[in-house]
Amino acid sequence: MEIAYYQNKFIDVDSPALPIDERGHQFGDGVYEYIRVYDGTPLFLDEHLDRLEKSAAEIKLTLPYRRDEITGIIYEGIKRSSLKEAAVYFQITRGIAPRNHSFPNVKAVFSMTVKKATIFTDEARTKGISVMLRQDERWANCFIKSLNLLPNVLSKQEAIEKGYDEAIFVHEDFVREGTSCNVFMVKDGTLYTPPATRHILHGITRKAVLDCAREYNIPVREQAINTTFFKNCDEAFITSTSIEIMPIYSIEDQILPKERPVTERLYSAYQNFYKQEV
Ligand SMILES: Cc1ncc(COP(=O)(O)O)c(C=O)c1O
Repeated sequence: MEIAYYQNKFIDVDSPALPIDERGHQFGDGVYEYIRVYDGTPLFLDEHLDRLEKSAAEIKLTLPYRRDEITGIIYEGIKRSSLKEAAVYFQITRGIAPRNHSFPNVKAVFSMTVKKATIFTDEARTKGISVMLRQDERWANCFIKSLNLLPNVLSKQEAIEKGYDEAIFVHEDFVREGTSCNVFMVKDGTLYTPPATRHILHGITRKAVLDCAREYNIPVREQAINTTFFKNCDEAFITSTSIEIMPIYSIEDQILPKERPVTERLYSAYQNFYKQEV
C-alpha cells in the first residue's frame, strides 16, 4: 500500500494535504531527498541524511525533526506500506505562513511519500537511453538538493519533445549532469565524470559508482569534460538513485558503441554492493 506523511502524521497518499500558504508550493522554498528501498531496507540512508542536513544548512533551514526522528518516520512509513521495493521521497519546506519572501517565524514542515519503486527491465538497460545536450540555465548552487526544479523540468520536457530520453546540461562546452542524474563516460578503459563542484548535485549513486570503480581497479578521473570528448567516448552512462546505472546509446547524432564492458562491470559491482548493504 502506498502511504504518505504530512505534519506529524501518516495519511492516505491521495489526501489533499497541503495548506494554501505552504512555502513549498508557493516558493519551492525547501529541500528534498529520494531514497530507494531494496527488500524492505533503505539503501544509503546515512548518506542521504547527510546530504539533507547539508542542503538544509545551505538554505538556512532548521529541520523540524532530529535525524533519529526522521529515520524513525522513514522506517515506520516503509513498515506501514508493506512495500519491499519502494521509493521514499521526502521534502522539508520552510513551513506555512502568509506569502512573504522573507523567512517566516514558523516551524519547517516535513512531508513524505512511500510508493512502489519503478523497476527498469533488463531490456531497457540493454537498450539504454538517448540524450541531447542543453545549455545549463540553472543557478550557481546545484549541489543543494532544492525543491526548485523548473529548469530541470523544462529541459527534460524539451528532450522528450525532441525525441530524446534525457537532456545533459552543458556550460561553456563542458558537460555537467542530467536533469535528474549524474553522467559518466569511459575512454580507453578510464572512467571519467565531471568533478563534484557547486554546479552539480553530489549524487549518492555517483559516489557509489566511483567507489565500485576503485574497488575494481578501474582508473577514475573526476575532471572537466568537453562535449567533443563526451561524444567520442567508448561508453557513457547516467546514474541516480532511481535509475541506478543506465547506459547512453546516443548523444544527439552520435551513436555510441554497443559493447559496454566497463558499464556492465560497474553495474554488476553496484548490484553486489547494494545487495551487501541491505
Ligand atoms: C540534478 C540531479 N543530479 C544527480 C542526481 C542523482 O543523485 P542521486 O544519485 O543521489 O540520486 C539527481 C537525483 O535526483 C538530480 O536531481
